Amino acid sequence: MTRILSGIKPTGQLTLGNYIGALKRFKDFQDSGEVFIFIADLHALTLPIDPEVLKENSRDIAAFYLASGLDPKKATIFLQSSVSAHAELNAILQNYLYMGELRRMTQFKDKSAKMNDNQIGLGLFAYPVLMASDILLYDANIVPVGEDQIQHVEITRDLVNRFNHRYGDILVMPKAQVNKVGARIMSLSDPTKKMSKSDPKGDIFLKDDMKTIRKKIMSAVTDLGCEVKYDPENKPGISNLLTIYAALSDISISEAEERFVGFRYGDFKKAVADKVEEILGPFKARYEEILASGEYLEVLKEGAKKAEEIANVTLKRVQKAVGLLPIE
Ligand code: TYM
Repeated sequence: MTRILSGIKPTGQLTLGNYIGALKRFKDFQDSGEVFIFIADLHALTLPIDPEVLKENSRDIAAFYLASGLDPKKATIFLQSSVSAHAELNAILQNYLYMGELRRMTQFKDKSAKMNDNQIGLGLFAYPVLMASDILLYDANIVPVGEDQIQHVEITRDLVNRFNHRYGDILVMPKAQVNKVGARIMSLSDPTKKMSKSDPKGDIFLKDDMKTIRKKIMSAVTDLGCEVKYDPENKPGISNLLTIYAALSDISISEAEERFVGFRYGDFKKAVADKVEEILGPFKARYEEILASGEYLEVLKEGAKKAEEIANVTLKRVQKAVGLLPIE
């Protein structure tokens, strides 16, 4: 059976980009494959974060996972830090990725650009090793992610080739899978930049109230001209809004374009805001309920047990392959 694995890092508030590029899609795999979805809390430590904020963000993601329609009877939902095999495999695999290739990672370059060497933690630099460990522990075939994470899956593939070349057929080759529509949602205030957890003006946060969300969409930067047309180069703002609309409606970009022929920008934005409200409204209500009930705690406990069983089998296989002496 196909194994699917993905995770979200509890570093900041989740955005509409996280929802469209990743979260919303996870449930689609749970009837046809074996799904592992986790909260990448160890990865959240790679940049300074307040312990209370980290805990709150982790609870939020657990509740968002359940609100998105992931069913804990079908999908294994867990915290990365509760399965120690992640850290153990990381300790082995860090010897099979090299400084030169880690230094070339776009995410590392972006995040460390404004820091000097005495501020950059080793964890930030070695981030892709832990991510490779996450993926490889579960023999994942498919890794659904947004466009910005493709490079990390690619380096995992390089690692698999290198490792298997040396030790035989030990690790399973994963493949990144991105959305046809919405693999990269852009900022509403600067549509040439990715919507990210750290840009309060241009982001729609899943925890924003509906009024704020509508306001952000209505004041999104648009472009010259007046036609609602998909043209990311010349009309990045309108193209981004069309992408959001199409992704949330599960239709293609051209179908979305057809719906808005002859629309003025203002009316188009209103339709996008209505669509976002139609989808996020009920989703947010479910999230609130789940958070208040605390039911996610039991899900995470059960998930850790199930994840651990699978992860430990892979860990043993790798330990044996590299020559660590088994004593049981
Ligand atoms: P993170 O937490 O930054 O983002 C979670 C997911 O959301 C996607 N995403 C977007 N998609 C479309 N448009 C955007 N503007 C946008 N912003 C974010 C991301 O691509 C991602 O899929 N390193 C990962 C977490 C991780 C992981 C893993 C993922 C750790 N181990 C193993 C998959 C497999 C991260 O920081 O994602």
